[in-house]
Amino acid sequence: MDAALSARIASISDRLAMYNGNALKIGLFGANCSSGRSATLVPERWQAGWGDCLRLARMAEARGIDFMLPIARWKGYGGATDFHGTSLETMTWAAGLLAATERITVFGTVHAPLFNPLIAAKEFVTADHIGAGRFGLNLVVGWNEGEFEMFGVSQRAHEARYAFAQEWLDAVMRAWTEPGDFDFAGEFLALKGVRAFPKPFGGTRPIIMNAGSSPTGQAFALRNCDAYFTANAASRMSLDAAIAKVDEIKGQARALGREIEVFTVGQVVCRPTQKEAEEYYRHAIIDNADWGAVDGMLALKDITPYNLPIEEYDKKRRYFAGNAIGGYPHVGTPDRVAEELANISRAGMRGIAVSFVNYLDEVPYFCDEVLPRLARLGVREEIA
Ligand SMILES: Cc1cc2nc3c(=O)[nH]c(=O)nc-3n(C[C@H](O)[C@H](O)[C@H](O)COP(=O)(O)O)c2cc1C
Repeated sequence: MDAALSARIASISDRLAMYNGNALKIGLFGANCSSGRSATLVPERWQAGWGDCLRLARMAEARGIDFMLPIARWKGYGGATDFHGTSLETMTWAAGLLAATERITVFGTVHAPLFNPLIAAKEFVTADHIGAGRFGLNLVVGWNEGEFEMFGVSQRAHEARYAFAQEWLDAVMRAWTEPGDFDFAGEFLALKGVRAFPKPFGGTRPIIMNAGSSPTGQAFALRNCDAYFTANAASRMSLDAAIAKVDEIKGQARALGREIEVFTVGQVVCRPTQKEAEEYYRHAIIDNADWGAVDGMLALKDITPYNLPIEEYDKKRRYFAGNAIGGYPHVGTPDRVAEELANISRAGMRGIAVSFVNYLDEVPYFCDEVLPRLARLGVREEIA
């Protein structure tokens, strides 16, 4: 590591700024999982092999992308492609990418109930040292019963999941900060004579994010996190409604004496003409949707053709395939996509994690065409 990096202070605000001046941070979401965020049959769908992930991170960093956000997924959703059936474990993925890059922030996504908190705390610290303060933690409690069963772990009731996660994160925080040995005695965890060194890089700690959508999940984020990710895209609302929503979330955090940044998620299909973009979106996301996978995901949320009228079910599955799995679809010319993304920044959001049907094929065009437009719109810096 060079001297400038080893002297880095890495304050929380530097870490959240991802060490650059872009007002709107842009990240890539889901590249560690097969098919990324698109349940599609098209042959060019993302395979999530390590070589492709490595090429993607290096290319994305060189072209100005700010972060990579993986998905912690242990079991595919079925369908003809077994959507997410192949996934690279996120902490080892993050460590590998951090070692191979110099500027991009890489998150690891961890299910609190599946990991011993002290082993996890040390993994986070190790990744953070590898990346010289570029590691970020996405803490999730899990929602997919089948995944937990396969570990022999039973999922707690919803409220208790977050009560456990609170204790788990408190233990991690103490491991990151306590100068000497300590005991931890909680409702769920009893840890004796804990000793944890080194501490995170640069005298601070990794940024922490969460994306709980329930009131309890959101409250957890407000109490503990630096970044709250909402799937409720600003793009689905008027600008005024989006501004009000972001203000409300930030205001709730301030009432707790905390600052939180709001991020969202989306999928991008960007092509030279609107017609080309819309045709490809329809081809990949609707006409060639992996409906078996879509049905599998909906069934996990207890939405099935057996408990809903068939027309209503059909409407839901079309909406889910086209709008929800990958987040809001930004489909269009570079001008249109840039304008939509700039609005996210105007709403007061700090960033967006986006996915593509094939990241390696599509990210270069997005970076070449959309990022300079975002700079001209005043929400990102010019790429050097
Ligand atoms: C950006 C984003 C990333 C997420 N990443 C994961 C993940 O990697 N693994 C997972 O099991 N859940 C993930 N989730 C689901 C949330 O953590 C959360 O469980 C879900 O939104 C339900 O909210 P609740 O826990 O408050 O009920 C993610 C959600 C979003 C919006």
